[in-house]
Amino acid sequence: MKETTFYHHDVLSMLDFRREDLELLFNYTEEMHKYTNTKLSLLLGKVVSLAFFEPSTRTRLSFEVAAKRLGADVISITGEESLSISKGESLADTIRMLDTYSDLIVIRHRYEGAARYAAEIAEHPVINAGDGKQHHPTQAMIDLYTIKKLFGTIDGLSYGVLGDLRYGRASTSFIYGLTLFKPKKLYLISPESLRVREEVLQVLKERGIVFEEKRSLGEVIGELDVLYVIRIQKERIPDPMEYEKVRGSYKVTLDLLKYAKKELKILHPLPKVDEIDERIDNTPYAAYFIQAKYGVSVRMALLALVLGAEP
Ligand code: NCD
Repeated sequence: MKETTFYHHDVLSMLDFRREDLELLFNYTEEMHKYTNTKLSLLLGKVVSLAFFEPSTRTRLSFEVAAKRLGADVISITGEESLSISKGESLADTIRMLDTYSDLIVIRHRYEGAARYAAEIAEHPVINAGDGKQHHPTQAMIDLYTIKKLFGTIDGLSYGVLGDLRYGRASTSFIYGLTLFKPKKLYLISPESLRVREEVLQVLKERGIVFEEKRSLGEVIGELDVLYVIRIQKERIPDPMEYEKVRGSYKVTLDLLKYAKKELKILHPLPKVDEIDERIDNTPYAAYFIQAKYGVSVRMALLALVLGAEP
């Protein structure tokens, strides 16, 4: 059972996985659900490093809870100011040090490619918890698992991905993840200046996904089974004037939902800013809090698979 795609492998991008891998992960996740209130000893004696060079609440905490529930010890560093990096230590040396202290490194960094770079240096597996605008594979695993739980399937549904698709790494990884399945249709909805990047469109074309770009949610809301929303990634937009131009340019409102299917589910990787009317939080459309809750079980399953522990 240890010889899975995950075992002792890095988790850097959704493009490195196949559908079967995710199905295995989802089966493990089901097992882990049974133990979310228990302390297991599957990873007893293992040390997991959390190297978060960029702010994070949910991702860091859910990795920490997941590792601890499995019995692992956790060491963590947060923010560059508190590190020797502020004394001039290179990322490479920091990774080398974590690699000698631990069995697995979870890294988040503002630069694209930082996780892949860390993986080249570290002998132990590296999990990418977000690198710049590029990838956030574990978030996509959670998103897809949530859809599987809500609808019983990921195939055959119509999807809308709304928001900052240019700088959003969570939306990018979600879109890549969908290409492993058979979505009926995928709408990419964003303001012109936050359009999905060319390299992402290229993957959709190569993988034969039926998709269309749109500028407003109103055009397609009635067709959707799943609406994935992401905030404007303000901190990644290089020019503050550009941000001002798009600020508040999209929002899911109760009015728009009048045209939606009754079964529509709205996902969001969180944090939300102003892109979803708060009154939607308490409606059956909102799936983002349950999605956040699944984060722990999915990450437990992933850590167990990568470190070769059987549930
Ligand atoms: C996302 C991220 O960090 O990319 N958040 C998360 O991990 N849940 C999305 C975001 O910050 O908008």
